[in-house]
Amino acid sequence: MHRRNRYNTPPNYKLVAKVSPELSLLLNDGQLDFTSNEAVRVLNRALLKADFNLNVDIPSVNLCPTIANRLDYLHLVEDLLDAASISYRTRPVSIYDMLHDNWTFIATEIDPASYESAHGNVATNGLNDQIQLFQIESQNAPLLSFVKETGCTAIVCNPPFYSSTKDICSRKAEKRSKSRTNLEYSASESIYPGGEVAFISRIIEESEQLREKITWYTSLVGLKDSIRPLQEKLELLVPRPTIKVMPSQIGKTKRWVLAWTFHNLRKRSHASVIELILPENITDPKEWLDQQFAKLGITALPDGHYQTSYCSWNRKFQRLQSKNVLPPEMPFQSKDTLSLEMQFQALVMGRTVEFRESEIHNREDLNSLVNHLRRKI
Ligand SMILES: C[S@@+](CC[C@H](N)C(=O)[O-])C[C@H]1O[C@@H](n2cnc3c(N)ncnc32)[C@H](O)[C@@H]1O
Repeated sequence: MHRRNRYNTPPNYKLVAKVSPELSLLLNDGQLDFTSNEAVRVLNRALLKADFNLNVDIPSVNLCPTIANRLDYLHLVEDLLDAASISYRTRPVSIYDMLHDNWTFIATEIDPASYESAHGNVATNGLNDQIQLFQIESQNAPLLSFVKETGCTAIVCNPPFYSSTKDICSRKAEKRSKSRTNLEYSASESIYPGGEVAFISRIIEESEQLREKITWYTSLVGLKDSIRPLQEKLELLVPRPTIKVMPSQIGKTKRWVLAWTFHNLRKRSHASVIELILPENITDPKEWLDQQFAKLGITALPDGHYQTSYCSWNRKFQRLQSKNVLPPEMPFQSKDTLSLEMQFQALVMGRTVEFRESEIHNREDLNSLVNHLRRKI
């Protein structure tokens, strides 16, 4: 789960039930039966009320959005926008808009009943100014037709995963043997000919035309097998975009966020970026990074930057320190500086950490820190 996801601390159902009499009726000794589709629906409605003050109707024929999973997706998109130095203080109906009240969303829906339901939820919660909802008439219409000349910051998408009813049945059978969680989907919202690979491929093709009008193109990917063909398709685009695949795991459910951009992020941020890719055995990249920084005396600043007064990863420094000799007066290689501190950003996106130097410092210092971390992997 993303480090900023509020559901890293599991909700106290008894407390949540205080805003939801229907949830209190389903609790048995403070526990909920997650194999029941209705229980999951009631819990999610209650969480939306308790944690976001939203009154959301989730029709029983529809997929019940798992709040923690959708929130995780939004946090990963936030990280992408941070990395692009984009201030995302605008506002982005669907579940996503409601979860993130700083954004404005334009949302599209093809299913008339789902569209009506979303419309009702937006109105009930007084979100008409924040959320523009469009009904799509046919699958032949471009998916990104809502993007106007001015463009938009990012797109989020949770596509229909499956290619046919047969596909749903075989995947459900496989999953049921492994998990006890609820797996109810209505066919119309889960099926698209060719499944999620075909649906996301349409976005990829349209993105090649729209390019920089959207800074980040993103989609949830539900099946691991879908990632490779989508990545290969993206790699063939001209110009080739920057591609990211970020895992998102909630309980036993694994999803991926595929993201791509045609923006030159390095140029945009005026700072060079050094990437560190962490291996799978480091299960929590952020925690690992914090531990390494703590050992090196690197502190986190309230604005999200990190700061250090010494090149404490330098072998000479460590030798001096072990002999209790005071650290050298000019700790950094940077020649230009009157500052005795180095500040940098370390953005964790899935298994990738992007290091960005602040403008006044030499890249060499940050490079040597990242090389030190590489040796620790
Ligand atoms: C897997 S559901 C996701 C629902 C919801 N956004 C969520 O995350 O829980 C996929 C949704 O995409 C809608 N859909 C399918 N094709 C579409 C299209 N061409 N344009 C807009 N929506 C579409 C389906 O009707 C369904 O509601």
